[in-house]
Amino acid sequence: MDIFLQTENLLKEVQETTIDSKETLEKFRIRFLGSKNILKDVFGEIKNVPNEKKKAFGQLVNSVKQAAEEKFATEQEKFQTSSQENNNIDLTLPGDVTTIGARHPIQIVRNKIIEIFNRLGFAVQEDREIEDDWHNFTALNMPEDHPARDMQDTFFVHINPDIVLRTHTSSVQVRTMENQKPPIRILSPGRVYRNETISARSHCFFHQVEGLYIDENVSFADLLQTLDFFVKELFGKDIKIKLRPSYFPFTEPSAEVDVTCFICGGEGCNVCKHSGWVEILGCGMVDPKVLENCNIDPKKYSGFAFGMGIERITMLKYQIKDIRLLSENDIRFLEQFKSAI
Ligand code: PHE
Repeated sequence: MDIFLQTENLLKEVQETTIDSKETLEKFRIRFLGSKNILKDVFGEIKNVPNEKKKAFGQLVNSVKQAAEEKFATEQEKFQTSSQENNNIDLTLPGDVTTIGARHPIQIVRNKIIEIFNRLGFAVQEDREIEDDWHNFTALNMPEDHPARDMQDTFFVHINPDIVLRTHTSSVQVRTMENQKPPIRILSPGRVYRNETISARSHCFFHQVEGLYIDENVSFADLLQTLDFFVKELFGKDIKIKLRPSYFPFTEPSAEVDVTCFICGGEGCNVCKHSGWVEILGCGMVDPKVLENCNIDPKKYSGFAFGMGIERITMLKYQIKDIRLLSENDIRFLEQFKSAI
């Protein structure tokens, strides 16, 4: 075909090509404006064109090139504006609201307790929830058949009654004493299990924080001072503590600690059952026999221990009437603690 005719056909092609997508636009660009475009090939034919027609031929090829450039520019612009219209962005619309979760009340109280004792140098020590008899009972002065085992209804692992779900985190204290030399100052938070009927006031699992301090010359006065500092930090400066003699197999002497009711200030209300006091923890001086069981010399070292239920403190603090709410994960309940962090 005559090279002039061929070039004129290309001009027609430029004019008639419909561009209806990004893809056709790109194809068009490659064919007429790309680095190996068709016009370069055509222009290469100029050597076969007679001299007197060379100028006209050059102009013809140029006009195709120009037409292609113009078409590309306008189509590209059209295409860009139309794609924006398609997206239909309304910049005045309000943004999506991201709902942020809340910390669980148990976690809030646990963190608070840890933070207070951290300031007294207690470090967090965690361990397993499935324990052996030695660490949960025997090392803590509760040999087999000891009546104190009845205080904590236990879940035993069916195939091996030597394995239990820990009934308290005192087991962590035993493990720590076995593995570390005094001075020991630890806090062991964690979940514990007891075979109790589930009701508004008790559950088959709950959380504890227990503390242990072992060093030379640790006295009952140190225990008292530590607990007094703790309750004032947790509940307020006006809170007083009262110790009642009690019994735990692993401490001697042992006590239960009451604090002035922080709801009524000691005047008497439903929460404190009109006594003005609420019980929050158990404590005592570590029994020398327990130290011996863990290879710590009771003649050289002494120590105190304490333990509290996080659910109990949480329920008192936020006046929650049913312990089951704390494990049901009802979002309507949990959302109320959003600002409590
Ligand atoms: N381990 C006891 C319990 O679970 C609490 C406690 C710890 C009491 C340390 C005294 C000293 O009931």
